[in-house]
Amino acid sequence: MHSAITGWGKFVPERILSNADLERMVETSDEWIVSRTGIRERRISAPDQPSSHLAIAAGRQALECAGLQASDLGLIIVCTVTGDYTFPATANLVQDGLGAHCPAFDLQAACAGWIYGLITAHQFIATGTARHVLVIGVEELSKIVDYTDRATCVLFGDGAGAAILSASEEPGILGFTMGSDGARPEQLYRPAGGSCIPITKDTVGTSATYVHMMGSEVFKFATRIMGSAMEEALVMAGLTRHDIDLFIPHQANLRIIEAAMKRLELPPEKVFVNLEKYGNTSSAAIPIALCEAIEQGRIQTGNRIGMVAFGGGLSWAAIAMRWTA
Ligand code: UT7
Repeated sequence: MHSAITGWGKFVPERILSNADLERMVETSDEWIVSRTGIRERRISAPDQPSSHLAIAAGRQALECAGLQASDLGLIIVCTVTGDYTFPATANLVQDGLGAHCPAFDLQAACAGWIYGLITAHQFIATGTARHVLVIGVEELSKIVDYTDRATCVLFGDGAGAAILSASEEPGILGFTMGSDGARPEQLYRPAGGSCIPITKDTVGTSATYVHMMGSEVFKFATRIMGSAMEEALVMAGLTRHDIDLFIPHQANLRIIEAAMKRLELPPEKVFVNLEKYGNTSSAAIPIALCEAIEQGRIQTGNRIGMVAFGGGLSWAAIAMRWTA
């Protein structure tokens, strides 16, 4: 059985944190942030607004868009590194919030999470195990970022994006690739909060509880992997880079996106970028971008879409698909 996207939705918190706001918090400038990253503002969730709230709002929209009820879902996958709790899974809370009765689990592949999730959903559909799978990318990185560390706090934001992957006569997902290199987790990680460095009275309030990143190392990895992962997914799909109608890359840094465009020989009109509004929302970035590309009329039936993400792990994943909706 083939699989195709039949519904989509997004939700971002109301509060905007601009570069001008950050200039008042750390030693940075709008000029530095825009020229090094392309980011102008990001959304920040309220203290009483956990990830599940954003995920449920995006999931509801996706159900409505697909014309489905929560009871039609065969599986819910929530991709996140900032779930409500260490456990239970945020997917359990989303399932209850939507009124669904299907199995639900979280998937953690950092910024590549949502593409990993969509590929996983495709397997459940291909084997006939599920007919409709809700895949949500949700992140509240503002809750684990140190707002005294200018190297990271200017980059990240909060949000949720969702898609429903359904069994289909026509092929939607045509090719994909996934990768992992766990040799150096410290390149991008949150040291404390797991079983390695548990949260104790000694770790509370220390920098170990925040995101740490070796920015330039991740940058070099990203510029290399974006193009090669996309090419691998295109080969599986029987396509070439010239067949891509719209490229939706992970929204981390405009310079990384430009390097991928160069490698894939893609002109700006074939590339979707919205990071100036949201910053890097990790696993939520691509599904939010997908929704906005559809809203802006950038995707038509029959178009071939390329999506690629990279992040902590290190992890990466890409999908080549034909738009059937
Ligand atoms: O989803 C995956 C997550 N991560 C990423 O995608 C991040 C990948 N990496 C990047 O996007 C870039 O490496 C950054 C945007 C994080 C940094 O840009 P860069 O061009 O690699 O800068 P850098 O780290 O080499 O730092 C250059 C300078 C340093 O000052 P010195 O040592 O040259 O005096 C930094 O201290 O810029 C300084 N700097 C800043 N200055 C103003 C770092 N952050 C800031 C800041 N404002 N916010």
